[in-house]
Amino acid sequence: MTKKHLPLVIANWKMNPGSLSEAKKLFLAIRNAAKKLNSVTTVVAPPFVYISDLQKLSPAGSVTLGAQNVHEELQGAHTGEVSINMLSGLSVRYVIVGHSERRANGETDAQVAKKVELILKARSTPIVCVGERERDVQGNFYVHIEKQLLSALTGIAKSRHKDVVIAYEPIWAIGTGATATPEDVVEMQLFIHKTLAKHFGRTTAATVRVIYGGSVNADNAAALYGTGAINGFLVGGASLKPAEFSRILSATL
Ligand code: PGA
Repeated sequence: MTKKHLPLVIANWKMNPGSLSEAKKLFLAIRNAAKKLNSVTTVVAPPFVYISDLQKLSPAGSVTLGAQNVHEELQGAHTGEVSINMLSGLSVRYVIVGHSERRANGETDAQVAKKVELILKARSTPIVCVGERERDVQGNFYVHIEKQLLSALTGIAKSRHKDVVIAYEPIWAIGTGATATPEDVVEMQLFIHKTLAKHFGRTTAATVRVIYGGSVNADNAAALYGTGAINGFLVGGASLKPAEFSRILSATL
């Protein structure tokens, strides 16, 4: 794993919580936990409509704001969409792209690649989600991961690979309570770095950070992080429970 960076833990709130007042309460609780842990980069990715209000609650910068998606163009006739410049204006510094819940709604590898480019241009960090729907004993799912990885990274300069985070999120583990084992995660991290090394060279590949997502909770985080294979977590359900999320943050110390 890349040693230069602090561990990165991202709260993907998805379409939660149901009101702005709840969002503020949750954000403040996470901010309190994060304040005590300044050796972890804590990111909260709320629904777009809460970002502006939460930005005002994060003056000390113990929590960085993220977004769950962005459009692949900068401006124009794209009803219901949000651009990277709009997000940057609200201090958003991390953007999740290619989440499986969005890919299921039609987001393509080509769109993910364009988003990665724009996010990097805006000096933000793309969190590129890759993951297989299911595993087969022959290991064909690795081909799928390779395709997602290469499509997302081929268009960008090698010097920018260090600004990209790959989130390995096996779809079968998202929101299901079934987590990849520490061994699965080690194997996948090795595969990701080996694949990137084959295409972009070892030095460049080593700069790309890998995090894990998929039913991460307070009980499994330490063992997953303890493998030394990953730089952090992308957390869905457990990021809505401040005490649990706080324990996940601590697991990366
Ligand atoms: P989960 O979601 O932690 O609820 O499994 C992770 C994600 O979808 O990013």
